[in-house]
Amino acid sequence: DIKKIYRETDMYLGQEVTIQGWIRTLRDSKNFGFIEVNDGSFFKNIQVVFDTELPNFKEVAKLAISTAITVKGDLVKTEGAKQPFEIKAKEIIVEAESLSDFPLQKKRHSMEYLRTIAHLRPRSNAFSAVFRVRSLAAYAIHKFYQDRGFIYVHTPIITGSDAEGAGEMFRVTTLDLHNVPKTEDGKIDVKQDFFEKETNLTVSGQLEAEIFALSHKNVYTFGPTFRAENSNTARHAAEFWMIEPEIAFADLQDNMELAEDMVKYIISYVMENAPEEMEFFNSFIDKGLIERLNHVATSDFEKVTYTDAIDILQKSGHKFEYSVEWGMDLQTEHERYLTEQVFKKPVFVTNYPKDIKAFYMRLNDDGKTVAAMDLLVPGIGEIVGGSQREERLENIEQRMKAMNLNLDEYWWYLELRKYGGVKHAGFGLGFERMIMYLTGMSNIRDVIAFPRTVGTAEF
Ligand code: 4AD
Ligand code: MG
Repeated sequence: DIKKIYRETDMYLGQEVTIQGWIRTLRDSKNFGFIEVNDGSFFKNIQVVFDTELPNFKEVAKLAISTAITVKGDLVKTEGAKQPFEIKAKEIIVEAESLSDFPLQKKRHSMEYLRTIAHLRPRSNAFSAVFRVRSLAAYAIHKFYQDRGFIYVHTPIITGSDAEGAGEMFRVTTLDLHNVPKTEDGKIDVKQDFFEKETNLTVSGQLEAEIFALSHKNVYTFGPTFRAENSNTARHAAEFWMIEPEIAFADLQDNMELAEDMVKYIISYVMENAPEEMEFFNSFIDKGLIERLNHVATSDFEKVTYTDAIDILQKSGHKFEYSVEWGMDLQTEHERYLTEQVFKKPVFVTNYPKDIKAFYMRLNDDGKTVAAMDLLVPGIGEIVGGSQREERLENIEQRMKAMNLNLDEYWWYLELRKYGGVKHAGFGLGFERMIMYLTGMSNIRDVIAFPRTVGTAEF
């Protein structure tokens, strides 16, 4: 592929090569022409020169952008040209023509417009780069955990429990919504549904990951998760991917250390392995991106307790839309103020009030806060949410009752606390938010191939 030719040019120079890809641009004059070909493997195109020696010269000279071609020819050095080498074509096979009204002509298109053609946008420079970086970041994450001996666990997509206890779930049912079977007392007869109980798409693999942390010590999940929250923002999607490590014999400090190491590793890995893409984002999407990420990858993250963060916000003199008081959940404006104005780098906020956090978080000795941690980064806000888990059976039962959760539905989760339920911790990294952070892209819809947000499910 084209990437190979760029990376190992010396091996190919003077040799005959074959490439397959799509035409990005074509310029022709009477006796010769230039085609820029891209095959999606690399940020750069490869230039092909062709002339009247080609038996199909006339046909080739008229080809439209996005025509699929196979080119055979010699790779030769170019002197004083923009590109260091080009292919002198001996043969160009037209594999599949493109119509001349191809929507992505060579000019800059708005992200909004490109979203309306999600089936074609991977062929634009920006999206081609985003999706290569996304693939590479996924690989980096697996490599990070596998190198440390973590076991990759596949937690279920269809689930009978609400991992966050927040009720923001998509129902999964085989019942005919237009003709729902009812029991004698008029309720929906779930016994007639596929699983004979109510099921949902998972909001998080955490509870099931805890099962495996308590048998395999260090584990992680990496899969799609679903939230039926009606938040129409640039950083919420109804379907997003989450990385959730869960570690046993570990507390909140260990958890923060792992999250910091992971974020730094992903940044370093992508910068090292996709320098051309990062250069592009740095020039066209977010000026200063590379310098900032370099700094993040090489300096310590900050830590602040929720209580101190509230204090800082209150004393800041800044006018927030939501006024700041102890006990409230931090809004995006507060998160961004802390990380962008106060700390100017990633910051862990710890020990949130128990009433604004999920039932499974470990109660601190003060009886008011839990061992929670959110990692906030400039430009986005929260990218990681995690905690040390409540391993004490009595505490968690009490907490769940106070939150009106049905303990019977979580019987297996509670049982884990009876049989060697050692202290453990974990977190979730929102994969799309991490990609936004890496690329400088400012809308979650532009870092996932097929965004699922309120009102959109085209494919
Ligand atoms: O903070 P959250 O809700 O935490 C959990 O789900 C825990 N069970 C994770 C764990 O401890 N294993 O979500 C974790 C992260 C957030 O920090 C955010 O980055 C991302 O998931 N996230 C979303 N990303 C895109 N769209 C949404 N609607 C998101 N909701 C959460
Ligand atoms: Mg959260």
